[in-house]
Amino acid sequence: MSQLVKNISLKSYNSFGIDARAKQFFEFSEAEQLISFCKSIDIKDKEVFILGGGSNVLFTKDFNGLILHPVIKGIEITDETDSTVLVKVGAGEIWDTFVEWAVNNNYYGIENLSLIPGYVGASPVQNIGAYGVEVKDIIESVETIDIYDLTNRTFSNKDCEFEYRDSIFKSKLKSRFLITHVNFRLKKNGQLKTHYGNIETELKNFSAINLENVRQAIINIRQQKLPNPNEIGNAGSFFKNPIVSTDKANELKLEYPNIPTYPAGSRLTKLAAGWLIEQSGWKGKSIGDAAVHKNQALVIVNKANAKGFEINNLADMIVNSVFRKFGISLEKEVIIL
Ligand code: EPU
Repeated sequence: MSQLVKNISLKSYNSFGIDARAKQFFEFSEAEQLISFCKSIDIKDKEVFILGGGSNVLFTKDFNGLILHPVIKGIEITDETDSTVLVKVGAGEIWDTFVEWAVNNNYYGIENLSLIPGYVGASPVQNIGAYGVEVKDIIESVETIDIYDLTNRTFSNKDCEFEYRDSIFKSKLKSRFLITHVNFRLKKNGQLKTHYGNIETELKNFSAINLENVRQAIINIRQQKLPNPNEIGNAGSFFKNPIVSTDKANELKLEYPNIPTYPAGSRLTKLAAGWLIEQSGWKGKSIGDAAVHKNQALVIVNKANAKGFEINNLADMIVNSVFRKFGISLEKEVIIL
């Protein structure tokens, strides 16, 4: 299946539910379809954006270029050792469908990433993470097509230049390499990571600590704190947690003894953006239909018919407040278009 649609509404293609339009939208389920389409147009002349599940993007205006939307499916074991399996997954699989598949088959490694919205193809782009696990820990390689040269290129884990919520696909090589498949190395007998956040407390409600129950505990925790994008438009965390010098963090700790801090490498400390935003007075506040979520200040929601630019304006006001109060510049995690 492949199709080119012109002047399409993107409302059902982004989790904020923003009704922006795209001039051209090409959806395809096989890599070869993308290659023949690209041969038929002059792609270098166009503004291109690769859209997965649309759960980490904010359209602030109509998109005057070409959107590529891969819906490549498939979950396939391609290699097996005594202790691991290598799984090749199509970019268009829903991330949580893959996590569910892994847990049902007793493969360890991604259970802490349960219920993260979006497609598998987007998971390496922003190195999704939660509860002490990042997808870079499990990715072996990423298969792509260079949309300019129409050649295949496989990126090893190291080639992807993974950082906290970042990779080469979100920075240097943005919109150049279209991810078709991701290869994940999962473990047959892994160790559960239950020390992070409230997982241990939530697990007390279960009769045993096992793979399936850790997934369910994380689903429960996320459902309590995070708004369901099917009910109220949002893109999960809107901002990254800022990483500052440990000296700066220590200074803040003197003034705000309760500030949460996490070690982040040599003389660096990660702060909780949600905490900084709440302390700046924004939790639960709205401006029109754009609002800061009442249970988690890191999340901005579209209460009904907010425009993308209104959500972005609210985000800018938050950035200014946090800077004035703490001297820290929050960086947006969501891609602003
Ligand atoms: N906090 C507040 N007020 C708030 C929100 C948080 O005081 O409104 C405090 C919490 O009490 C806690 C600290 O901030 O002390 C950190 O909060 P939490 O553990 O909830 O995690 P987070 O830093 O807000 C990150 C990820 C989430 C991920 C969780 C769990 C980022 C940008 N966000 O959030 O990822 O689910 O950890 O691991 O790193 C996402 O990327 O969309 C996402 C939801």
